[in-house]
Amino acid sequence: MIVVGSGARHLTKEIERIGGELARVEIKKFPDGEKYVRVLSSGDEVTVVQSTYKPQDENIVEALILGDALRERGFKKLRLLVPYLAYSRQDRVTHEGEPVSVRAVLKALGIYYDELYVVDVHNPETLRFFPGKAVNVFPARAIAEYFAEKLGEGIVLAPDRGARARAEAVAKRLGLEHSHFEKHRISPTEVEIRPVDIDVEGKNVLIVDDIISTGGTIMKVASILKRMGAGRIFVGVTHGVFAEGAVERVSRAVDELAVTNTIPTPVSRINIVPDLLGLRG
Ligand code: R5P
Repeated sequence: MIVVGSGARHLTKEIERIGGELARVEIKKFPDGEKYVRVLSSGDEVTVVQSTYKPQDENIVEALILGDALRERGFKKLRLLVPYLAYSRQDRVTHEGEPVSVRAVLKALGIYYDELYVVDVHNPETLRFFPGKAVNVFPARAIAEYFAEKLGEGIVLAPDRGARARAEAVAKRLGLEHSHFEKHRISPTEVEIRPVDIDVEGKNVLIVDDIISTGGTIMKVASILKRMGAGRIFVGVTHGVFAEGAVERVSRAVDELAVTNTIPTPVSRINIVPDLLGLRG
C-alpha cells in the first residue's frame, strides 16, 4: 500500500501505474495553516512517498504526522521514499553554533520510519544519521537512457570532484569516458578551472550533478567547455531546485537542460519513479 504525500502529488499517476494500490488518506490544512492528515486504509506495511521541496518545512512535517497517523492506525512497517531531501546540503558545521541540519531531519524521520530511500542525496554519507536502513538511489540508468542518443560518442563530466561518482555511474551505463572539473593554479595569481585528464575538443559533453539552484555552477563549466571547443553541451541533473530565472539562464547557455521529476519543473523530463519504487520490498 502506498501513501502519496503532497510533495509527491505530481508523481501520483506514475506511482499508481508502477506501484499499485494507493492508501486512502485525507490531507488538508486547517484555517490557521497547520496540516491535517487522516489515514483511512489499514494494513501491516506501507510505503510513503514524500518529496520535500518548497515548502520544505511543511512537507517534512507532513511526512512526520503521516508517520504518526500510520502508527496510530496500526501499520507495523513504514517505509519512506523521498524523491528530494531538503536540507541535504547543510551537512556540516562551517561556523560555530550552526547545526548539521540534515542530521536533525533524518533523526526526526527515524522516529516513525523503519526504512528510508532517498534519490541522490547531496552527501550519501549523511544517511548514517537515519537510525534504520537508509539507501541512496542514484538515477544513473534514467539519466543515461535519456541522453544516450543525443550524446553519441561523447563524454560525461562532473562540475567538481564531489560529483565525480555521479558522472562515473552515468558514463558506465553509456560505455563512455568520464571526468570532473578541477582548479589548477597556473601562477600565484591565476587559477584555471578545467576537466582533469580529458580532451573535450569536438566532443559532445553531458554535465551531471545533483542539484541546480542558481545555475551558476553549470553556467561556469558550460562556458569553459565552449572555450575549449566542446561540441554539443547537455545537462542532466537530478534535482531542479531552480532559483528565479535559473531554468531560462541555464537553458540559454547549453544545448539541452533536463532534470528528473523529483521536483516538478518545466524541464523535469527524466522519470525516477521506476528506480525509486523498484527498491521496495
Ligand atoms: C554543490 O556542491 C552542489 O552539488 C551543486 O553543484 C550546487 O548546489 C549547485 O548550485 P548552483 O546552481 O547555485 O551553482
